[in-house]
Amino acid sequence: MSLPYTEEMLESIKKVEATRAERMANEPRRMTADEKDALLEQYHPDYNKESFEEIIVGPNKGQMAPKELNALLQANSRIKGMDIDLEHPDYDCEVLVIGGGGAGSSAAIEANEAGADVMIVTKLRIGDANTMMAEGGIQAADKENDSPQQHYLDVMGGGHFKNVPELVKKLVTEGPAAVNWLDHLGVLFDKDENGVMVTTHGGGTSRKRMHAAADYSGAEIMRVLRDEVINRGIPVIEFTVAIEIIKDEEGKAAGAVLMNLETKEIMVARAKTVIIATGGAGRMHYQGFPTSNHYGATADGLVLAYRAGAELLYQDTLQYHPTGVAFPAQIYGALVTEKVRSMGAMFCNKDGEAFMHPLETRDVAASGVIREVARGNGIHTPLRDGIWLDTPMIDAIHGEGTLEKRLPGMLRMYLRYDIDMRKVPIVIYPTLHYQNGGIKITPDGMSGVENLYVAGEAVGGIHGRNRLMGNSLLDIIVFGRNAGQQAGKKCKEVTLGKLTLAHVDAYAKECADAGIVTDLVSPQLLPDYRRK
Ligand code: FUM
Repeated sequence: MSLPYTEEMLESIKKVEATRAERMANEPRRMTADEKDALLEQYHPDYNKESFEEIIVGPNKGQMAPKELNALLQANSRIKGMDIDLEHPDYDCEVLVIGGGGAGSSAAIEANEAGADVMIVTKLRIGDANTMMAEGGIQAADKENDSPQQHYLDVMGGGHFKNVPELVKKLVTEGPAAVNWLDHLGVLFDKDENGVMVTTHGGGTSRKRMHAAADYSGAEIMRVLRDEVINRGIPVIEFTVAIEIIKDEEGKAAGAVLMNLETKEIMVARAKTVIIATGGAGRMHYQGFPTSNHYGATADGLVLAYRAGAELLYQDTLQYHPTGVAFPAQIYGALVTEKVRSMGAMFCNKDGEAFMHPLETRDVAASGVIREVARGNGIHTPLRDGIWLDTPMIDAIHGEGTLEKRLPGMLRMYLRYDIDMRKVPIVIYPTLHYQNGGIKITPDGMSGVENLYVAGEAVGGIHGRNRLMGNSLLDIIVFGRNAGQQAGKKCKEVTLGKLTLAHVDAYAKECADAGIVTDLVSPQLLPDYRRK
């Protein structure tokens, strides 16, 4: 085994080792509110005005969006020029769930529980989703020293008080029941010798409320949800994408136009209610960032909902996780869970200085890393400059064997490239991780289009302008279950009128009238990594 670090990196590590004892005795102070604001404004990618432009059509006309997303919102429909037979649907159900990740699966389980005839369509396979990639854990205020009120304050503070209060209230008050539901379904959470769940801090949390399954919490949750969907016999149509929402003549959501990803066959699914659970947008690589996201994360749900007339909220804010892999190249942009810092690892610059507290909120931490590199204090690697994350501190603080037990996925990921993070620090840089904004919903999960529900990362507003760690796994469960329950109930009252795609033509006309000319089609479906 030969460590792939350069001589310069090894020299810098000596400085990190030399400051370790002092750093362990005196952790860096927290930033003041003014310091944070100044840092964000100068270094956070959301403040990089050149990367955003005004939306000129649709419900969010006049607001800003990332250029890459705006291009998709203004692009041509994939069904442009097609004659689609809406009279003879290929599928007929009461609840159509678009997306087979954590939110979609939770929604389908609850719709099934409510007695609805539910079906999932998913672009890849069930479980191919950001849920599967989630590592650090799921927050819930279920300990004696904690409360949903305390959790609420943390979520609002982390989101810069831009969060929709009713959605946050739902998130935190239903948090303990969500974790309990998962526990009973069979998720193997970390527990102590008395069977009590082990909880840790995340950035910006005032209590230890992060429940985890080692550092593969999302994979463990997805394993159980997928089994539950299959055991219930819920139909799952894989490798099939929704490319437009269908409405009825009264303007209610009434199904979706589907496309088989391999054969390109076009199909129609008629449904009394529709749930969008299509996940995030990391594969859009906003501002050229690498991503921790799943291959299918291309903002599809936002495009579908927008063309159908649903308003977006905070579409101009993205989350850059402070600790993406900066080296080695083979795993560039992959997630280094925040739990590494929860367990004590500190950021260090090339001189071994801990330039900021390791558990500031994510937007602040990412901006701090970007600033330190911009100041020339980063670590040169053959790939890109980054910052040390002093991982040997974990065993130094908690005892030998801790990192292996609590972070086995991380350890294995780096060992593949001959980097033993128990012995040497690792180099990190921010990676595009989460879509803070998305489709606007009311607390019952419905978007601005009647009978069109949304759950999971496609929703905007729960997390304001910055999400805290572990609140995404929580929101996919709370709002996934909620959407399934609501849609499962609502579908029993719905009588569908004649199906129509007239809104797609109307939107195209609005684009044309606004002078938009483009060859682009959307939703994007998959990232395009061909050499240009
Ligand atoms: O760092 C992490 O493990 C990520 C968690 C999250 O985004 O909630």
